Amino acid sequence: MQDHDAIVEQVAALFDRLADVHDGAATRFHPFAADRLVDWMRLRPGMRVLDAGTGTGAVAVAAAQRIRPEGRVQAIDLSERMLDVAHANLRRMALDNVDLYPMDLRRPEFRSDYFDVILSGFALPFVPDMGGALRAWQRILKPGGRVAFTVLARGAFEPLLGLLVEDLETFGFEFPDRDVPFAWFRLQDANACRALLAEAGYEDIEVETTQVGHHIEKSLDWWELIERTPLIGYVDALQGDTR
Ligand SMILES: C[S@@+](CC[C@H](N)C(=O)[O-])C[C@H]1O[C@@H](n2cnc3c(N)ncnc32)[C@H](O)[C@@H]1O
Repeated sequence: MQDHDAIVEQVAALFDRLADVHDGAATRFHPFAADRLVDWMRLRPGMRVLDAGTGTGAVAVAAAQRIRPEGRVQAIDLSERMLDVAHANLRRMALDNVDLYPMDLRRPEFRSDYFDVILSGFALPFVPDMGGALRAWQRILKPGGRVAFTVLARGAFEPLLGLLVEDLETFGFEFPDRDVPFAWFRLQDANACRALLAEAGYEDIEVETTQVGHHIEKSLDWWELIERTPLIGYVDALQGDTR
């Protein structure tokens, strides 16, 4: 099995590559879901919030708007290019209560008992040992603090996603687990989320499955989504005319 640190480095390199194209109409489910996430968590002014795997800052932005003026978001990501784009986004929105750090969400370097809330948007499935990360977050959460993350549910982007898997298989790809062809979908079932959180020592677990309103109208929109997300890594592996 590949070393976890090596996988995490590859993930960071992939997101470095995607940083400049990450934001756009084709990937609007990120800010849509970020808004739902912070509403669901009923953030209040003054809270201390961690955004783990902030990317271009969708969750940090949504949280910062709800907890200002005294509340602060610490936003971390291993991709420094993503952090550059997040920085530009925050400036454009004149949000000054977010701090950005290059940091591995598996090993958050903050004081113990510090955060009221830890949030994470579509990042956990990219971490090889998701349970280990969730356990590490317990140390930096205040007693009674809360954790919430978004993931893609089973059925997201279907039937297009299934067709992509079929096409890739036609061109020689072998997916070790056809039920989870892409890492992004490792937590696609509510029970998997519940079990992961319970095993990591969390209590009072709630899972909500919701349609955030990102509908794909044209095949070109789907292609654009592929180009702006880790799905492009699979297409890039194809050569020449096949691609
Ligand atoms: C799909 S993007 C989502 C970004 C953002 N949270 C959002 O909802 O738009 C996932 C992000 O997680 C980051 N990430 C993945 N593994 C990480 C790790 N071990 N530590 C920190 N960031 C990580 C990636 O670099 C990427 O920016």
